[in-house]
Amino acid sequence: MKLTIDDVRSRFIKHFNGETGSIYAAPGRINLIGEHTDYNGGFVFPGAVTQGMIAEIKPNGTRKVRAYSIDLKDYDEFSIDDEKGPRASHFRYIFGVVREMMALGVPVEGFDTAFAGDVPNGAGMSSSAALESCYAFALNDLFGDNKIDKMTLAKVGQATEHKYIGVNCGIMDQFASVHGKKGNLMRLDCRSGEFEYFPWNPKGYRLVLINSCVKHELVGSPYNDRRNSCEKVAKAVAAKHPDRKIETLRDTTWEDLEEVKDEVGEVDYKRAKFVLGEKDRVLAVCDALEAGDYEKVGEMMYQTHEGLSKDYEVSCEELDFLNDVARDCSVTGSRIMGGGFGGCTINLVANELYQNFVDTAKREFKAKYGKEPIVIDVVIGDGARKLC
Ligand code: GLA
Repeated sequence: MKLTIDDVRSRFIKHFNGETGSIYAAPGRINLIGEHTDYNGGFVFPGAVTQGMIAEIKPNGTRKVRAYSIDLKDYDEFSIDDEKGPRASHFRYIFGVVREMMALGVPVEGFDTAFAGDVPNGAGMSSSAALESCYAFALNDLFGDNKIDKMTLAKVGQATEHKYIGVNCGIMDQFASVHGKKGNLMRLDCRSGEFEYFPWNPKGYRLVLINSCVKHELVGSPYNDRRNSCEKVAKAVAAKHPDRKIETLRDTTWEDLEEVKDEVGEVDYKRAKFVLGEKDRVLAVCDALEAGDYEKVGEMMYQTHEGLSKDYEVSCEELDFLNDVARDCSVTGSRIMGGGFGGCTINLVANELYQNFVDTAKREFKAKYGKEPIVIDVVIGDGARKLC
């Protein structure tokens, strides 16, 4: 599906008395490498995609938000002064963003809104961050004179996940959705907040996602448990080294990890081991990209998959299967992408091998699981913006 302004405007007009408002968009994201590193103060390497969320918004002169989800054909209204807010998660994202913007001093007022998206749900491409970033950007523009900086807008989305949805996510998804730039990936240091754009134009290769369509749902998934494991290990190291400033696993070394191995136990040790390895891999990928060495980039992606599957244990049978198919088809790099527990693999594939790979993946996956996976070609697009 290619979502257009008209898809949203026509429904907005129908639902809200024929008048029009302003239209905003924010994208989902991919991540080349650096998984589960953001909440550990490490590096991530995402880029915005061309799929995203589009919302039309018009202030309505009341203290109420009247919201229509075009995709779900669902309507609700809620007061922006209410503490509890709506129940349905698609409206809670909007409510959370409203409340967080108000907490920052933005004089938000009631508005009418209709929204739709074409980021596949549960694919690990951050449809929820797209929704949050779209509204954070829009409310800043409509009510806040654009005084809130972009990183703070990303943090509004993240706080919404933490406080209103119950997912203790890191900053990667909202960061990418707000800061995305056409044709560029971004390397973000999640400890310092510093980032740089990396033009993404791999000569002779392309990125393609294979969506297993196994539902990726971080609410109620062991995502928060993984984060707790990492924090526990960082605390154990900090207790042994009061002289050092250790806030996250980013501040720890392989020696530190060995030192607390018995104390933290096998499972948490494995989780931390993955994170330390992933921290090094992101930097190795950056070096490889600068040298134009895509084979090296791909090798790191396979290592990440292995770690996410065996040590971090956020893969599933279907994703491991797709990873094996990629290897069999000589795909340069392949790994599970995003939070895990379902969703997509991201694949770096040489142009001449692309067609055989996607055909084989579709055929073999269908033979084994009874349905075709969805192939999504990656195009790196722009971040949150006003469309009209
Ligand atoms: C989800 C979270 C991100 C990040 C990834 C894993 O997408 O929202 O903050 O932790 O998982 O890299």
